[in-house]
Amino acid sequence: MKITVVGAGYVGLVTGACLAEMGNHVVCLDVDTRKIAMLQRGEIPIHEPGLDALVQRNAAAGRLAFTTDAQAAVAHGTLQFIGVGTPPDEDGSADLQYVLAAAANIGRHMTDYKVIVDKSTVPVGTADKVRATVAAALAERGVPMDFAVVSNPEFLKEGAAIDDFMRPDRVVVGSDDERASLLMRAVYAPFMRNHDKLIVMDVRSAEFTKYAANAMLATRISFMNELALLAERVGADIELVRKGIGSDPRIGTHFLYAGAGYGGSCFPKDVKALIRIGEDNGLDLGVLNAVEEANERQKHVLVERVVKRFGEDLTGRTLALWGLAFKPNTDDMREAPSRVVIAELVKRGAAIRAYDPVAMPEARRVLEGVAGVEFVDSQAAALQGADALLIVTEWKEFRNPDFEMIKATLKQPVVFDGRNLYEPALMKAFGLEYVGIGRGTAPAAQA
Ligand code: UDX
Repeated sequence: MKITVVGAGYVGLVTGACLAEMGNHVVCLDVDTRKIAMLQRGEIPIHEPGLDALVQRNAAAGRLAFTTDAQAAVAHGTLQFIGVGTPPDEDGSADLQYVLAAAANIGRHMTDYKVIVDKSTVPVGTADKVRATVAAALAERGVPMDFAVVSNPEFLKEGAAIDDFMRPDRVVVGSDDERASLLMRAVYAPFMRNHDKLIVMDVRSAEFTKYAANAMLATRISFMNELALLAERVGADIELVRKGIGSDPRIGTHFLYAGAGYGGSCFPKDVKALIRIGEDNGLDLGVLNAVEEANERQKHVLVERVVKRFGEDLTGRTLALWGLAFKPNTDDMREAPSRVVIAELVKRGAAIRAYDPVAMPEARRVLEGVAGVEFVDSQAAALQGADALLIVTEWKEFRNPDFEMIKATLKQPVVFDGRNLYEPALMKAFGLEYVGIGRGTAPAAQA
């Protein structure tokens, strides 16, 4: 099939490359000339495991092309996927200007029947706005033409996006048009050969499903974080509690990990947007408000512990920090808890020695101008001259580090583990003072 993907960002690129892999002829359109030039050279502007090989292979096979030429790109695909950004407005609602600009473009240039597919996360009712925008552009040209607007939210996890697309748990398609549903079914059939995981519903329910899924997951995380804080006070271990409750199939084992708070490009933005949608519809979403509040508090928990251990004034203290990205296997620093941790520590006079396996260039960019942060190129280098170690992202390479080296290098052998990577008993055996999240008692104040 011929497919156009509008937006060569994270969602657009993964979608385009995976669709090309199944034999479709895909053209990716973006207004960013620099990005398109990079992609044409086979360079991938983002970090996502497996994406570079996939893009290069399909580009070489002539199934995946990149362009800034809107007219040619719109003419190409029967299916027009819109995967542009929907950044939060000042009031938290999703800014639809890029989605609607893409829709106007399609209306301006289309010459035959198109299925316009919203992949971006957009509020309920956006498909109607897209439809109206395309219709207005067509009316301006005075050429009535048939088209359909479909909602097809993405459920890709950064760091696992290729696998998520290739082997989806489910594909949600919101469509009120039979021909469009048929085409969507055909596009996704190769990704679900053994099980039909396509869930077709009306457009509004599909739009809502995406927010509901992310809000539900964010709620689980915030609730586990809250339980972890309480577990500490009553002397329980949240890691054991997690196993205990996760074995109930009604609860399930995923997304039950207490930590330093959730971040990334989706949860914080979508939770805010849904709260805002509630307000617009006269409904106070109390649970979701609390989810957001708890997450903000959680991003400060590591710092509170450092302060409890070393005092409010951290002047003259150096802290090693492992992990900057909002989660492993990505260089994404958007809403990363590490940013709050660093800002709060630096504010109190601490110097930071930070290391991340992948996100360092991105971290340098977003933390530019923050004084007191030095980026170093290894776990060991971060520990040099440091009083204590903080772990903010659970990269695999942090899971079994050289504990003896940590003990020997740190001035005070304290590990503040924001992701519960280690067993407290093991840390004790290595002579390390260990502070996790929700694992027994919080640290005692010491000089
Ligand atoms: C998420 C959704 O999972 C995905 O379906 C959607 O399309 C986009 O948003 P992503 O933001 O890439 O994906 O990351 P995810 O793996 O879901 O993690 C989000 C955040 O939650 C991370 O900061 C992670 O550290 C945190 N998290 C996750 C926890 O703190 N505890 C958990 O148990 C799970």
